[in-house]
Amino acid sequence: MAKLFYLLSIITIIIVLATTSTMGWPTNHVVESVQTTHSRFPIDDGGQKQTHLRFFWHNFAGEQQPTAITIAQGPTTNSSKTKFGLLNAFDDPITVGPNLSSQLLGQSQGIYASTDQKTAGLLMVMNFFFSYGNYKGSTLTILGRNQVFNEVREMPILGGTGLFRFARGFVEARTHSVDSKSSYTIVQYDCYIFYY
Ligand SMILES: *[C@@H]1O[C@H](CO)[C@@H](O)[C@H](O)[C@H]1NC(C)=O
Ligand SMILES: *[C@@H]1O[C@H](CO)[C@@H](O)[C@H](O)[C@H]1NC(C)=O
Repeated sequence: MAKLFYLLSIITIIIVLATTSTMGWPTNHVVESVQTTHSRFPIDDGGQKQTHLRFFWHNFAGEQQPTAITIAQGPTTNSSKTKFGLLNAFDDPITVGPNLSSQLLGQSQGIYASTDQKTAGLLMVMNFFFSYGNYKGSTLTILGRNQVFNEVREMPILGGTGLFRFARGFVEARTHSVDSKSSYTIVQYDCYIFYY
């Protein structure tokens, strides 16, 4: 009898766990009602996915149809060898290949600021907004330090939206080419992303 009771309890627990694990997010959004058992967390249901995306970022900082413009600077920025305090806004196309006429994937939008007094180092605050392909309508958010003359610059992926909800990971940026006459820079971005 005790054995049967024990068995019944186990079955009940299994049924309860199976039901709660399919419930997903609580619908009432009341934080207090969220239980911390991992079976309630929807990311345990779907499993983690990972992907590597490579694309090319086109930044035009010259006077002709710029995609990056200076929006602020400090009183000592002009005399700083690293342009410390210079703040730029940008809306740069990202494409599949290094040629600007290759398939447009979306836009890279944000601000970069010169935040290093000793070397050319930027604070990047950047969203990738995809308008083509598998990730159309989704975004990735990057925030990090970009020491632009280094061969490889690593920056963290802080999160994402759409298909990239719960995203984390990092990007590697490599300068592909610089045309200093027209201030046109192409940077290769490799994104290593975990998402659900
Ligand atoms: C810095 O240089 C730019 C461009 O030469 C000029 O427009 C700006 O007024 C200068 N700013 C200061 C604070 O000197
Ligand atoms: C980019 O593509 C265009 C059109 O296909 C071509 O004319 C041009 O030479 C290419 N540029 C480079 C640098 O390969």
